[in-house]
Amino acid sequence: MATLNGQLVPIPLLVLFFFVLALPPSLACDAGDRAVLLKIKAGFLNPGIFASWNESSATCCDWYGVGCQRLDGGRVTSLTYHNMEGAAFALSGRLPDELGDLPFLSHLFLGNHSNIYGGLPLTLTRLTRLSALYLNRNSLSGVLPFFLSQIPSLKVLDLAYNKFAGLIPPEFSNFPALQYLGMEVNHLEGVIPSTIGNLSKSVLPLHLNLSHNMISGDIPAELGVPNWGMLVLSHNNLTGDATPLFGANKAITYMDLSFNKLKFDMTGIDFPVKLEMLALQNNMISGSIPAQINQLGDLYTFNVSDNQLCGLIPAGPVMDRFDDTHFLRNKCLCRSKDMCL
Ligand SMILES: *[C@@H]1O[C@H](CO)[C@@H](O)[C@H](O)[C@H]1NC(C)=O
Ligand SMILES: *[C@@H]1O[C@H](CO)[C@@H](O)[C@H](O)[C@H]1NC(C)=O
Ligand SMILES: *[C@@H]1O[C@H](CO)[C@@H](O)[C@H](O)[C@H]1NC(C)=O
Ligand SMILES: *[C@@H]1O[C@H](CO)[C@@H](O)[C@H](O)[C@H]1NC(C)=O
Ligand SMILES: *[C@@H]1O[C@H](CO)[C@@H](O)[C@H](O)[C@H]1NC(C)=O
Ligand SMILES: *[C@@H]1O[C@H](CO)[C@@H](O)[C@H](O)[C@H]1NC(C)=O
Repeated sequence: MATLNGQLVPIPLLVLFFFVLALPPSLACDAGDRAVLLKIKAGFLNPGIFASWNESSATCCDWYGVGCQRLDGGRVTSLTYHNMEGAAFALSGRLPDELGDLPFLSHLFLGNHSNIYGGLPLTLTRLTRLSALYLNRNSLSGVLPFFLSQIPSLKVLDLAYNKFAGLIPPEFSNFPALQYLGMEVNHLEGVIPSTIGNLSKSVLPLHLNLSHNMISGDIPAELGVPNWGMLVLSHNNLTGDATPLFGANKAITYMDLSFNKLKFDMTGIDFPVKLEMLALQNNMISGSIPAQINQLGDLYTFNVSDNQLCGLIPAGPVMDRFDDTHFLRNKCLCRSKDMCL
């Protein structure tokens, strides 16, 4: 035994500890991955942004934004550059095909580069270990890349704040492992495909944000699957009935359907009892607010303003949390028989 910071440590552990420390980290970089990174750099119109990706340095794991598994031959596992520094530091050009040539890549984050444009390379489907793909706040365009659903381990896909247009592809119902799909603030249109309830075979809660697009038509009844955790459909042109989304035993905690043209009667609804957030404002919802809403002990964000609701707001521990500004401009909602809003 020996002591390290006053603690007794077995000698073999100590030897291992110094051996690991003594490994020159600069050598732990896979030569093939390094060559691919240099091609990726050269694939952008302003490769100078990656100043630290220096052709004359033997390493790659200490290059800006590059993450490696140092103890496993230095394979590149992450590429992370979310630009917070302004236009002068924004990458420019199309995403290079060589991004698909980093077989150990599990995280690819390139966000807030206003000059990354065009579509996504099909080569991304080669990345069998990719679990998170964040490409939000760029200028990507065209139809949604339907082939992304072929990436077997993809858990998080964030394409928000881009210029994707057209329909949600039916292939987006076939992700094997997806848990989060962010597509808000794009130019998507058409109806939500009825197969979207099969978005993922995952039993974990699913999170979907489709807000601020131009999606229209009725909400498909198949969207009423039990495994949503978060569902954000606000600021679209959705019509018709949303009642299949409700039901007391659903796990959903966050539901935002505001600013659409939904038209249904709320009277008979059972709200999911775990809801923490329910936004229904700016629709054409009629009927009255069911008393069951007072069982939603975690509900702290709530708005039903600008609908066609009527009748008594059911007094109780939950509804009493919210003042009149959560019930504005309905048909005939009242706090009590003689206190109507
Ligand atoms: C690249 O590395 C070489 C050798 O370490 C150095 O002389 C050169 O200035 C570096 N270039 C850049 C652009 O950092
Ligand atoms: C995007 O970059 C700008 C600077 O160009 C910065 O002000 C902004 O906070 C960034 N946005 C996000 C969401 O990172
Ligand atoms: C969803 O998948 C299940 C089994 O894979 C299938 O039976 C069902 O028809 C699918 N539903 C839709 C709406 O595609
Ligand atoms: C969904 O997207 C909208 C639009 O940007 C955003 O305001 C909202 O916070 C997002 N919701 C969640 C839960 O991420
Ligand atoms: C909704 O549809 C109307 C006409 O049908 C259109 O003028 C409006 O721009 C649409 N709004 C959105 C958010 O798609
Ligand atoms: C509820 O939504 C309406 C818009 O429909 C808005 O005017 C009101 O301020 C919101 N109330 C709260 C408490 O956010």
